[in-house]
Amino acid sequence: MSVILDLEILTHCPDDAAALMEKVANACAHAEDVTLPLEVHVLLTDNEGIRTYNREYRGIDKATDVLSFPTISYAAGKTAGQSLKRISREMDVDTGCCFMGDIIISIPRATEQAEEYGHSLTRELGYLTAHAMFHLMGYDHIEEDDKRRMRTMEEKALNAVGINRVTDEELLEKAREMTKLSYAPYSKFTVGTALLAADGTVYTGCNIENSSYGLTICGERTALFKAVSEGKHDFVTIAIAANNAMPWPCGACRQTLYEFAPDLRVLVTWKDQVEEATLRELLPHGFGPKGEAINFLG
Ligand code: THU
Repeated sequence: MSVILDLEILTHCPDDAAALMEKVANACAHAEDVTLPLEVHVLLTDNEGIRTYNREYRGIDKATDVLSFPTISYAAGKTAGQSLKRISREMDVDTGCCFMGDIIISIPRATEQAEEYGHSLTRELGYLTAHAMFHLMGYDHIEEDDKRRMRTMEEKALNAVGINRVTDEELLEKAREMTKLSYAPYSKFTVGTALLAADGTVYTGCNIENSSYGLTICGERTALFKAVSEGKHDFVTIAIAANNAMPWPCGACRQTLYEFAPDLRVLVTWKDQVEEATLRELLPHGFGPKGEAINFLG
């Protein structure tokens, strides 16, 4: 773990909150490609508590859900991933970590929001932690473009820890549905896919065969090429369904997906069975721009 949360809990909160928040904070640092050891102070308080901080530090005398106070002032347009030298100057010799700042969350407000959205408090705390972590890493949401950029990063981190707007089951169901559109008159092996991009968009695909057999395209690459041709380069999960056997992706698809998403989660399903692996497990020592074997893009 590269992010340590120094938690101060002043109000009642779920037992599993701390572990989840730490997982989310680490996923945020990973999504931003920051591998330095980081420390963040987190205060979980009530509405009165957060209101006091909001009044004292921002001049707003109101309770809110989350506040974040970054230690680091980033150069214009830069975020943590491009400011590693700056961050390393915050290294504390005692802890061995770079202090990134403070996060304050109101548990009663998070509870209300969780009820409103129909999900658990733990999940809401995950969202709020990701939002605050990206603020600490230099993101904001004043301009529309910045807001989209921040939202994409939040989705990426949350998806990586399984807090998805789209659930695995929904993704698998879309993939199963897509087998019906497969064009496989030669092999009769119908494949359907659903690829979840880091911003939460789902791209579907199916295998498309050809009487000149070698020109066949697999379901995985159909979905991937649709997504890339719409400007998406960041992916979290692919679900692959087939009618005849467990459809683990072929070597060509592993390599093509690896180009964009070495950490992709791969879910395969056939009949009622579901199995899961990461792309790195399916393609060890992978060759690609973000792989371990070579790093073209630096
Ligand atoms: N197929 C896929 O769609 N994905 C794979 O990863 C392996 C194979 C398709 C291609 C062809 O239409 C059929 O399965 C039989 O090879």
